[in-house]
Amino acid sequence: MPRVYNFSAGPATLPVEVLEKAQKDLVDYQGNGMSVMEMSHRSPEYTAIFNGAIENLKSLMSVPDNYKILFLHGGASSQFGMVPLNLFSDKKKADYINTGAWSKKAIAEAKRYGTVNVVASSEDQTFNYIPEISNDMFDPEADYVHITTNNTIYGTTFPELPEVGNVPLVADMSSNILAQEYDVSKFGIIYAGAQKNIGPAGVAIVIVLEDLIGNELDICPRMFNYKTHADNGSMFNTPPTYAVYVAGLVFEWLIAKGGVAEMQKINEEKAGWLYDFLDNSKLFNGTTATNSRSTMNVPFVTTSEELDAKFIKEAAASGLKTLKGHRSVGGMRASIYNAMPTEGVKALVDFMKDFELKNK
Ligand SMILES: Cc1ncc(COP(=O)(O)O)c(C=O)c1O
Repeated sequence: MPRVYNFSAGPATLPVEVLEKAQKDLVDYQGNGMSVMEMSHRSPEYTAIFNGAIENLKSLMSVPDNYKILFLHGGASSQFGMVPLNLFSDKKKADYINTGAWSKKAIAEAKRYGTVNVVASSEDQTFNYIPEISNDMFDPEADYVHITTNNTIYGTTFPELPEVGNVPLVADMSSNILAQEYDVSKFGIIYAGAQKNIGPAGVAIVIVLEDLIGNELDICPRMFNYKTHADNGSMFNTPPTYAVYVAGLVFEWLIAKGGVAEMQKINEEKAGWLYDFLDNSKLFNGTTATNSRSTMNVPFVTTSEELDAKFIKEAAASGLKTLKGHRSVGGMRASIYNAMPTEGVKALVDFMKDFELKNK
Protein backbone atom coordinates (compact mmCIF):
# COMPACT_ATOMS: atom_id res chain seq x y z
CA MET A 1 0.00 0.00 0.00
CA PRO A 2 1.35 3.47 -0.76
CA ARG A 3 1.86 5.80 2.20
CA VAL A 4 -1.21 7.78 3.19
CA TYR A 5 -1.33 11.34 4.49
CA ASN A 6 -1.77 10.77 8.21
CA PHE A 7 -3.29 13.76 10.04
CA SER A 8 -3.10 12.10 13.47
CA ALA A 9 -2.54 14.39 16.47
CA GLY A 10 -0.06 11.97 17.98
CA PRO A 11 1.60 9.61 17.60
CA ALA A 12 1.89 11.42 14.30
CA THR A 13 3.40 11.16 10.87
CA LEU A 14 7.21 11.02 10.64
CA PRO A 15 9.38 12.12 7.72
CA VAL A 16 9.58 9.25 5.25
CA GLU A 17 13.33 9.88 4.88
CA VAL A 18 13.71 9.20 8.62
CA LEU A 19 11.71 5.98 8.44
CA GLU A 20 13.79 4.78 5.50
CA LYS A 21 17.05 5.56 7.26
CA ALA A 22 15.88 3.71 10.39
CA GLN A 23 14.81 0.80 8.18
CA LYS A 24 18.17 0.64 6.44
CA ASP A 25 19.99 0.52 9.78
CA LEU A 26 17.44 -1.61 11.59
CA VAL A 27 19.10 -5.02 11.60
CA ASP A 28 22.72 -3.91 11.37
CA TYR A 29 23.42 -0.39 12.60
CA GLN A 30 26.32 0.91 10.52
CA GLY A 31 28.32 -2.31 10.50
CA ASN A 32 27.93 -3.07 14.22
CA GLY A 33 26.06 -6.30 13.54
CA MET A 34 23.21 -5.30 15.83
CA SER A 35 20.24 -2.98 15.96
CA VAL A 36 20.25 0.24 17.99
CA MET A 37 17.51 -1.42 20.07
CA GLU A 38 19.94 -4.14 21.11
CA MET A 39 22.86 -1.89 22.08
CA SER A 40 23.96 -1.11 25.60
CA HIS A 41 23.04 2.46 26.38
CA ARG A 42 26.59 2.87 27.70
CA SER A 43 28.34 1.59 24.54
CA PRO A 44 30.46 4.07 22.57
CA GLU A 45 28.15 3.65 19.53
CA TYR A 46 25.03 4.51 21.48
CA THR A 47 26.74 7.31 23.43
CA ALA A 48 27.54 8.94 20.07
CA ILE A 49 23.89 8.64 19.00
CA PHE A 50 22.62 10.08 22.30
CA ASN A 51 25.10 12.96 22.50
CA GLY A 52 24.55 13.76 18.83
CA ALA A 53 20.79 14.06 19.42
CA ILE A 54 21.34 16.40 22.37
CA GLU A 55 23.81 18.57 20.44
CA ASN A 56 21.50 18.81 17.42
CA LEU A 57 18.50 19.73 19.55
CA LYS A 58 20.62 22.33 21.34
CA SER A 59 21.62 23.88 18.04
CA LEU A 60 18.10 23.70 16.50
CA MET A 61 16.58 25.57 19.46
CA SER A 62 19.68 27.69 20.28
CA VAL A 63 19.53 26.40 23.85
CA PRO A 64 21.85 28.54 26.03
CA ASP A 65 24.70 26.79 27.90
CA ASN A 66 23.07 27.33 31.32
CA TYR A 67 20.24 24.91 30.47
CA LYS A 68 20.23 21.12 30.71
CA ILE A 69 18.55 19.01 28.03
CA LEU A 70 17.08 15.80 29.48
CA PHE A 71 15.61 12.82 27.62
CA LEU A 72 13.20 11.13 30.02
CA HIS A 73 10.53 8.45 30.22
CA GLY A 74 6.96 9.09 31.27
CA GLY A 75 5.66 11.38 28.55
CA ALA A 76 4.62 14.97 29.00
CA SER A 77 2.14 13.79 31.64
CA SER A 78 4.95 12.95 34.10
CA GLN A 79 6.08 16.56 33.83
CA PHE A 80 2.71 17.66 35.21
CA GLY A 81 3.97 16.20 38.49
CA MET A 82 7.73 16.72 38.10
CA VAL A 83 7.39 20.48 37.62
CA PRO A 84 5.72 21.17 40.98
CA LEU A 85 7.78 18.53 42.81
CA ASN A 86 10.96 20.31 41.67
CA LEU A 87 9.84 23.94 41.65
CA PHE A 88 7.63 24.28 44.73
CA SER A 89 10.77 25.00 46.70
CA ASP A 90 9.93 28.37 48.17
CA LYS A 91 6.37 29.66 48.44
CA LYS A 92 4.71 26.47 47.17
CA LYS A 93 2.41 28.41 44.89
CA ALA A 94 2.20 28.73 41.13
CA ASP A 95 0.15 30.56 38.49
CA TYR A 96 -1.41 28.50 35.70
CA ILE A 97 -3.21 29.56 32.52
CA ASN A 98 -5.99 27.10 31.74
CA THR A 99 -6.25 26.66 27.97
CA GLY A 100 -7.48 23.09 27.68
CA ALA A 101 -7.63 19.50 28.85
CA TRP A 102 -3.84 19.19 29.14
CA SER A 103 -3.57 22.40 31.19
CA LYS A 104 -6.32 21.06 33.46
CA LYS A 105 -4.38 17.86 34.03
CA ALA A 106 -1.25 19.89 34.82
CA ILE A 107 -3.26 22.04 37.27
CA ALA A 108 -4.82 19.02 39.00
CA GLU A 109 -1.39 17.46 39.53
CA ALA A 110 0.22 20.67 40.84
CA LYS A 111 -2.63 21.11 43.33
CA ARG A 112 -1.48 17.95 45.08
CA TYR A 113 1.75 19.67 46.17
CA GLY A 114 0.90 23.34 46.65
CA THR A 115 -1.40 26.24 45.86
CA VAL A 116 -2.46 26.78 42.26
CA ASN A 117 -3.84 30.09 41.12
CA VAL A 118 -5.59 29.88 37.73
CA VAL A 119 -4.96 33.40 36.45
CA ALA A 120 -6.91 33.06 33.20
CA SER A 121 -9.01 30.43 31.45
CA SER A 122 -10.82 29.90 28.16
CA GLU A 123 -13.01 27.09 29.48
CA ASP A 124 -16.15 29.26 29.08
CA GLN A 125 -15.95 28.74 25.30
CA THR A 126 -14.68 25.16 25.11
CA PHE A 127 -11.11 26.48 24.99
CA ASN A 128 -11.45 27.82 21.45
CA TYR A 129 -9.35 30.91 22.21
CA ILE A 130 -6.34 32.05 24.23
CA PRO A 131 -7.41 34.43 27.00
CA GLU A 132 -6.10 38.00 27.21
CA ILE A 133 -3.15 38.11 29.57
CA SER A 134 -1.49 41.09 31.22
CA ASN A 135 1.56 41.06 33.46
CA ASP A 136 -0.35 42.43 36.48
CA MET A 137 -2.32 39.15 36.62
CA PHE A 138 0.74 37.28 37.86
CA ASP A 139 1.84 36.87 41.45
CA PRO A 140 5.47 38.06 41.66
CA GLU A 141 5.91 35.69 44.63
CA ALA A 142 4.87 32.56 42.71
CA ASP A 143 7.42 29.79 42.25
CA TYR A 144 6.55 29.62 38.52
CA VAL A 145 3.96 30.34 35.83
CA HIS A 146 2.73 27.44 33.66
CA ILE A 147 1.35 27.64 30.11
CA THR A 148 0.54 25.17 27.33
CA THR A 149 1.96 26.90 24.24
CA ASN A 150 -0.12 24.90 21.76
CA ASN A 151 -3.42 23.24 22.63
CA THR A 152 -3.55 20.10 20.54
CA ILE A 153 -7.26 19.35 20.99
CA TYR A 154 -8.66 22.83 20.28
CA GLY A 155 -6.07 24.13 17.81
CA THR A 156 -4.99 27.22 19.72
CA THR A 157 -1.53 28.72 20.19
CA PHE A 158 -0.44 31.61 22.40
CA PRO A 159 0.03 34.45 19.90
CA GLU A 160 2.75 35.80 22.19
CA LEU A 161 4.37 34.70 25.42
CA PRO A 162 3.07 36.24 28.66
CA GLU A 163 5.36 38.72 30.43
CA VAL A 164 6.03 37.07 33.78
CA GLY A 165 8.83 39.25 35.17
CA ASN A 166 11.34 37.31 37.25
CA VAL A 167 9.09 34.32 37.84
CA PRO A 168 10.20 31.24 35.82
CA LEU A 169 7.94 30.49 32.85
CA VAL A 170 7.23 26.77 32.40
CA ALA A 171 5.80 25.59 29.09
CA ASP A 172 4.21 22.37 27.94
CA MET A 173 5.34 22.59 24.32
CA SER A 174 4.34 19.03 23.37
CA SER A 175 2.55 19.93 20.15
CA ASN A 176 4.55 22.84 18.78
CA ILE A 177 8.13 22.34 19.88
CA LEU A 178 10.48 22.83 16.89
CA ALA A 179 7.59 24.14 14.76
CA GLN A 180 8.16 27.81 15.47
CA GLU A 181 11.00 29.82 16.89
CA TYR A 182 11.04 30.46 20.64
CA ASP A 183 13.68 32.25 22.67
CA VAL A 184 14.58 29.50 25.15
CA SER A 185 16.10 32.06 27.55
CA LYS A 186 12.57 33.34 28.25
CA PHE A 187 11.66 29.99 29.86
CA GLY A 188 12.59 28.26 33.10
CA ILE A 189 11.46 24.89 31.72
CA ILE A 190 10.23 23.67 28.35
CA TYR A 191 8.90 20.12 28.18
CA ALA A 192 7.35 18.02 25.44
CA GLY A 193 6.28 14.48 24.69
CA ALA A 194 8.03 13.42 21.49
CA GLN A 195 5.20 11.77 19.60
CA LYS A 196 3.94 14.82 17.69
CA ASN A 197 6.78 16.90 16.32
CA ILE A 198 9.85 14.97 17.38
CA GLY A 199 9.70 11.22 16.97
CA PRO A 200 8.08 8.06 18.30
CA ALA A 201 6.32 7.96 21.68
CA GLY A 202 8.50 6.90 24.59
CA VAL A 203 10.74 9.88 25.20
CA ALA A 204 9.91 13.23 26.74
CA ILE A 205 12.22 16.18 26.30
CA VAL A 206 12.89 18.57 29.17
CA ILE A 207 14.95 21.73 28.74
CA VAL A 208 15.57 23.16 32.19
CA LEU A 209 17.43 26.19 33.49
CA GLU A 210 20.27 24.95 35.72
CA ASP A 211 19.29 27.32 38.56
CA LEU A 212 15.97 25.48 38.89
CA ILE A 213 17.64 22.12 39.52
CA GLY A 214 18.33 20.83 43.03
CA ASN A 215 15.53 22.54 44.98
CA GLU A 216 13.09 19.63 44.99
CA LEU A 217 10.55 18.86 47.72
CA ASP A 218 11.62 16.23 50.26
CA ILE A 219 8.90 13.88 49.05
CA CYS A 220 10.11 14.05 45.43
CA PRO A 221 10.91 10.48 44.23
CA ARG A 222 14.45 10.12 42.93
CA MET A 223 13.21 9.30 39.41
CA PHE A 224 11.15 12.53 39.44
CA ASN A 225 14.04 14.73 40.49
CA TYR A 226 15.59 16.76 37.66
CA LYS A 227 18.92 16.64 39.55
CA THR A 228 19.04 12.85 39.29
CA HIS A 229 18.82 13.04 35.51
CA ALA A 230 20.95 16.17 35.07
CA ASP A 231 23.78 14.66 37.17
CA ASN A 232 23.65 11.41 35.21
CA GLY A 233 23.30 12.76 31.67
CA SER A 234 19.79 11.25 31.44
CA MET A 235 21.35 7.82 32.07
CA PHE A 236 20.41 7.28 35.73
CA ASN A 237 18.46 4.33 34.43
CA THR A 238 18.11 2.93 30.92
CA PRO A 239 16.83 5.74 28.70
CA PRO A 240 14.30 5.09 25.91
CA THR A 241 17.16 4.28 23.57
CA TYR A 242 15.39 3.64 20.28
CA ALA A 243 12.99 6.57 20.66
CA VAL A 244 15.96 8.89 21.24
CA TYR A 245 17.72 7.43 18.18
CA VAL A 246 14.71 8.15 15.92
CA ALA A 247 14.30 11.62 17.48
CA GLY A 248 17.96 12.19 16.61
CA LEU A 249 17.26 11.25 12.98
CA VAL A 250 14.39 13.77 12.97
CA PHE A 251 16.76 16.46 14.31
CA GLU A 252 19.21 15.69 11.47
CA TRP A 253 16.32 15.90 9.00
CA LEU A 254 15.26 19.27 10.44
CA ILE A 255 18.78 20.65 10.17
CA ALA A 256 18.99 19.49 6.54
CA LYS A 257 15.65 21.21 5.86
CA GLY A 258 16.98 24.55 7.11
CA GLY A 259 16.08 24.42 10.81
CA VAL A 260 13.23 25.81 12.87
CA ALA A 261 12.95 29.21 11.13
CA GLU A 262 12.45 27.49 7.77
CA MET A 263 9.96 25.05 9.32
CA GLN A 264 8.00 27.94 10.79
CA LYS A 265 7.73 29.52 7.33
CA ILE A 266 6.52 26.29 5.78
CA ASN A 267 4.11 25.63 8.67
CA GLU A 268 2.57 29.11 8.31
CA GLU A 269 2.15 28.50 4.60
CA LYS A 270 0.59 25.04 5.07
CA ALA A 271 -1.82 26.21 7.78
CA GLY A 272 -2.59 29.34 5.74
CA TRP A 273 -3.94 27.25 2.84
CA LEU A 274 -6.30 25.42 5.18
CA TYR A 275 -7.48 28.52 7.05
CA ASP A 276 -7.98 30.47 3.80
CA PHE A 277 -10.14 27.69 2.49
CA LEU A 278 -12.12 27.43 5.76
CA ASP A 279 -12.68 31.21 5.84
CA ASN A 280 -14.19 31.15 2.34
CA SER A 281 -16.12 27.90 2.49
CA LYS A 282 -19.89 27.74 2.94
CA LEU A 283 -19.81 24.13 4.12
CA PHE A 284 -16.73 23.99 6.37
CA ASN A 285 -16.01 26.21 9.34
CA GLY A 286 -12.89 26.57 11.48
CA THR A 287 -13.71 26.39 15.20
CA THR A 288 -10.85 28.45 16.65
CA ALA A 289 -10.76 32.22 17.33
CA THR A 290 -8.81 33.86 14.50
CA ASN A 291 -6.15 35.45 16.74
CA SER A 292 -5.35 32.16 18.50
CA ARG A 293 -5.05 29.83 15.53
CA SER A 294 -2.48 27.05 15.66
CA THR A 295 -0.31 26.16 12.69
CA MET A 296 -0.12 22.59 14.04
CA ASN A 297 -3.70 21.46 14.73
CA VAL A 298 -6.56 22.79 12.64
CA PRO A 299 -10.02 21.81 13.93
CA PHE A 300 -13.09 22.30 11.73
CA VAL A 301 -16.69 21.18 11.25
CA THR A 302 -19.27 20.95 8.48
CA THR A 303 -22.92 21.90 8.95
CA SER A 304 -23.95 18.60 10.59
CA GLU A 305 -22.56 15.63 12.47
CA GLU A 306 -23.77 13.29 9.71
CA LEU A 307 -21.81 15.22 7.10
CA ASP A 308 -18.75 15.27 9.40
CA ALA A 309 -18.90 11.48 9.60
CA LYS A 310 -19.31 11.18 5.82
CA PHE A 311 -16.36 13.50 5.26
CA ILE A 312 -14.08 11.54 7.61
CA LYS A 313 -15.04 8.25 5.95
CA GLU A 314 -14.61 9.44 2.38
CA ALA A 315 -11.37 11.28 3.16
CA ALA A 316 -9.92 8.09 4.70
CA ALA A 317 -10.90 6.12 1.59
CA SER A 318 -8.93 8.69 -0.44
CA GLY A 319 -5.77 8.25 1.64
CA LEU A 320 -6.36 11.22 3.98
CA LYS A 321 -6.40 9.45 7.34
CA THR A 322 -7.09 10.21 11.01
CA LEU A 323 -9.06 13.42 10.48
CA LYS A 324 -11.57 12.75 13.25
CA GLY A 325 -11.54 15.45 15.95
CA HIS A 326 -10.71 14.64 19.57
CA ARG A 327 -13.49 12.66 21.25
CA SER A 328 -14.19 15.56 23.64
CA VAL A 329 -14.97 18.11 20.89
CA GLY A 330 -16.03 16.09 17.82
CA GLY A 331 -15.82 17.37 14.24
CA MET A 332 -12.54 17.12 12.38
CA ARG A 333 -8.96 18.03 13.14
CA ALA A 334 -6.04 18.12 10.72
CA SER A 335 -2.74 17.85 12.57
CA ILE A 336 -0.09 19.20 10.24
CA TYR A 337 3.17 18.95 12.15
CA ASN A 338 6.62 19.54 10.60
CA ALA A 339 6.66 16.11 8.98
CA MET A 340 3.35 16.59 7.10
CA PRO A 341 4.43 17.29 3.51
CA THR A 342 3.01 20.37 1.78
CA GLU A 343 1.48 17.95 -0.76
CA GLY A 344 -0.57 16.40 2.06
CA VAL A 345 -2.16 19.71 2.99
CA LYS A 346 -2.77 20.54 -0.68
CA ALA A 347 -4.43 17.15 -1.16
CA LEU A 348 -6.64 17.78 1.87
CA VAL A 349 -7.75 21.23 0.66
CA ASP A 350 -8.47 19.83 -2.83
CA PHE A 351 -10.50 17.02 -1.28
CA MET A 352 -12.47 19.49 0.85
CA LYS A 353 -13.23 21.66 -2.19
CA ASP A 354 -14.47 18.65 -4.08
CA PHE A 355 -16.54 17.43 -1.11
CA GLU A 356 -18.15 20.85 -0.80
CA LEU A 357 -19.16 20.83 -4.48
CA LYS A 358 -20.70 17.37 -4.13
CA ASN A 359 -22.53 18.12 -0.87
CA LYS A 360 -23.99 21.59 -1.46
C1 LIG B 1 -0.26 19.64 24.83
C2 LIG B 1 -0.13 18.25 25.37
N1 LIG B 1 0.38 18.05 26.60
C3 LIG B 1 0.52 16.83 27.13
C4 LIG B 1 0.12 15.71 26.43
C5 LIG B 1 0.28 14.34 27.07
O1 LIG B 1 1.41 13.76 26.56
P1 LIG B 1 1.88 12.28 26.96
O2 LIG B 1 0.91 11.35 26.35
O3 LIG B 1 3.27 12.21 26.37
O4 LIG B 1 1.90 12.19 28.44
C6 LIG B 1 -0.41 15.84 25.14
C7 LIG B 1 -0.80 14.63 24.38
O5 LIG B 1 -1.49 14.64 23.41
C8 LIG B 1 -0.55 17.15 24.61
O6 LIG B 1 -1.07 17.32 23.40
